[in-house]
Amino acid sequence: MFDRFNRKINYLRISVTDRCNLRCVYCMPENGVPLLKHEEILNFDEIVDFTRIAVSKGVDKVRITGGEPLVRNGIVDLISMISSIDGIKDLAMTTNGIFLDKYAKDLVKAGLHRVNISLDTINPEEYKKVTRVGNIQKVFDGIQAAKKAGLNPIKINCVIQKSSLEPHAVEVAKYCNENNLQIRYIKEMDLEKGEFSVVQGGSGGDCGTCNRIRLTANGDIKPCLFSNLAYNVRDLGAENAINAAIENKPISGHVNHTSKFYNIGG
Ligand code: 5AD
Ligand code: SF4
Repeated sequence: MFDRFNRKINYLRISVTDRCNLRCVYCMPENGVPLLKHEEILNFDEIVDFTRIAVSKGVDKVRITGGEPLVRNGIVDLISMISSIDGIKDLAMTTNGIFLDKYAKDLVKAGLHRVNISLDTINPEEYKKVTRVGNIQKVFDGIQAAKKAGLNPIKINCVIQKSSLEPHAVEVAKYCNENNLQIRYIKEMDLEKGEFSVVQGGSGGDCGTCNRIRLTANGDIKPCLFSNLAYNVRDLGAENAINAAIENKPISGHVNHTSKFYNIGG
């Protein structure tokens, strides 16, 4: 698939839930957010059918996001269903890592290749402050479980304000060095204000080479993180929706008043 600006679209990010077991200060209000109703959320067959169509059109890289993907019931089965689609070269997940010690082994068996784990600090009190409720030991256990299960490479997403030299980020970098993990720095963004930036060490945030489309938990295909454009697979049918998303993918993003990270998955 090529869009109007001759960008090759081969990367699909699938948000499988808008729910999360954490409440990171830059992502969610303290008391949570209005959640999608059960019937609004795509079922596994709808997600897999859409993914199959996307793959037949040239997607070969898929990332599962949330919310927190590991809180979706049956997530391991969903990974099995997706990994059995012929043509996916890279199947990854972005997770906060809290449930990885429980699921890493089964996820590998189901066909997951690798994970990105969010970790902004290695200080337990600071972690509790950033996530409002998180126990950092669960993340450390999750990282070890991911390694043991053979997920590789393991990348750590570290949200920064301005610089990777902020003390919390330097400590995370040291931890990554010592534990054979790759670090990615993500500047805190405000979708509504149109504040977005490239991912240091990663591939996100560069409009000229953007290869992504996103599927939200309620079936919207979003051609750009920083735009309100959305094409719903239930309303339009999967084929029409994906075609419309590609045809209308903007040359660059501006603002997004309709999504937050917890429902679009970053
Ligand atoms: N700015 C930048 N990154 C964010 N994330 C969540 N909210 C924001 C934000 N406002 C990141 C998380 C995680 C990924 C899913 O998105 O830290 O790594
Ligand atoms: Fe949950 Fe990720 Fe948002 Fe934190 S950033 S509240 S872990 S979805």
